[in-house]
Amino acid sequence: MGKVGESHSFSADSSSGGSAGGKTAIVFYSLSGNTKKVAEEIRRQTGGDLFEIRTAEPYPQSYTRVTELVQEQRGSGTLPDVQPMPIRLGDYDTLFIGSPIWYGDSALPLQKWLEENSLAGKKVAAFFTSGGSSTAGAMADLRGRVKGAKMSEGLWILDARSKNVSRKVTDWLGRIR
Ligand SMILES: Cc1cc2nc3c(=O)[nH]c(=O)nc-3n(C[C@H](O)[C@H](O)[C@H](O)COP(=O)(O)O)c2cc1C
Repeated sequence: MGKVGESHSFSADSSSGGSAGGKTAIVFYSLSGNTKKVAEEIRRQTGGDLFEIRTAEPYPQSYTRVTELVQEQRGSGTLPDVQPMPIRLGDYDTLFIGSPIWYGDSALPLQKWLEENSLAGKKVAAFFTSGGSSTAGAMADLRGRVKGAKMSEGLWILDARSKNVSRKVTDWLGRIR
């Protein structure tokens, strides 16, 4: 997994080292592209660095098979392994974290990434896309997964392909900043 479409290389970023925070990162998981679209819009408007969480094993292409597998994983309390990501969390003080809603909750790959990375002390703002479900359950669950972080109001986008995404992101950023 990687830093997506950045304007400078990761090695240049690393060599700038030593800075204690101050930067913004957008970390997201997206299976079918909706959440990615919102993440890219947040990047456009904040100038933050974009990081995409990818699973070690890709989920199946078929929607039915994905839902079966995710239900199985939820049932057994298994989170899928995610690929290592070249993010130096110490460089960032603000993190936008994004995910689709899966069964009223955040997606399992984001949960896995949060299990492996502490966001304590960071400003965290979550964004979600869904097919209809609200984000109330996912937000509540997420608060328990980012202990010690300062959580802002979340953003919920129902139709990530609509023209309103840009304005919704602008309004949201205005409210939480
Ligand atoms: C496994 C799975 C579970 C889902 N569960 C829900 C749900 O509970 N409520 C809902 O509104 N949408 C649900 N969806 C639809 C996605 O939240 C929605 O299509 C989202 O925008 C997909 O984002 P992505 O393209 O970034 O993966 C589910 C999709 C999948 C694949």
